Amino acid sequence: MDEELEILFDEETIGRTVRELGERVSQDYAGKELLLVGILKGAALFLADLARTVTVPAEVAFLRASSYGNSTSSAGTVQITQDVDRDVSGRHVLLVDCIIDSGRTLAAVRERVLMRRPASLRSVVLLDKTDRRTTKVPVDYVGFEVPDRFLVGYGLDRAGQYRNLPYIAAVLQEDDSNSAG
Ligand code: IMP
Ligand code: MG
Repeated sequence: MDEELEILFDEETIGRTVRELGERVSQDYAGKELLLVGILKGAALFLADLARTVTVPAEVAFLRASSYGNSTSSAGTVQITQDVDRDVSGRHVLLVDCIIDSGRTLAAVRERVLMRRPASLRSVVLLDKTDRRTTKVPVDYVGFEVPDRFLVGYGLDRAGQYRNLPYIAAVLQEDDSNSAG
């Protein structure tokens, strides 16, 4: 499968925005301890970079949610396949995801975490496909608003590929029958 990629955000641009997000988070949580909860697998790279820009004491945890499988179109249901590997009750939880699309993943994850009674719950996403939202869900920190295109890199995959790219790119699809990956 030959795919052309169009780079939308290079490494330097991502780095600058991640640092800005980290500064805002650090100011907002001054005097508190944070529990950063990454949504696997997409958020792994973003969380790693964001965590290093956060200056308040922070623990790192993960949960795993899956909705897309290997397809580029949503399966419609969100499964939390692995719960948070930390006790969240009484903690200031910041959910970290690379991208919000329909909003279903974040909504499902928020619901799950809220059941465990955190002291507070906010979310940060690097990329927001605002036009695609079907589920209303609060997002407190956004890096970039992005168009409705399939994006890869910096944690985002297409059928398991491209997660390790240091930049974020849109996949140019000549033939949409390829889009199931
Ligand atoms: P939502 O539940 O529709 O908001 O989708 C969120 C999840 O879908 C993300 O955590 C990603 O795993 C995946 N996703 C959404 N858009 C893209 C994309 O453009 N490229 C790769 N994965 C995406
Ligand atoms: Mg995926």
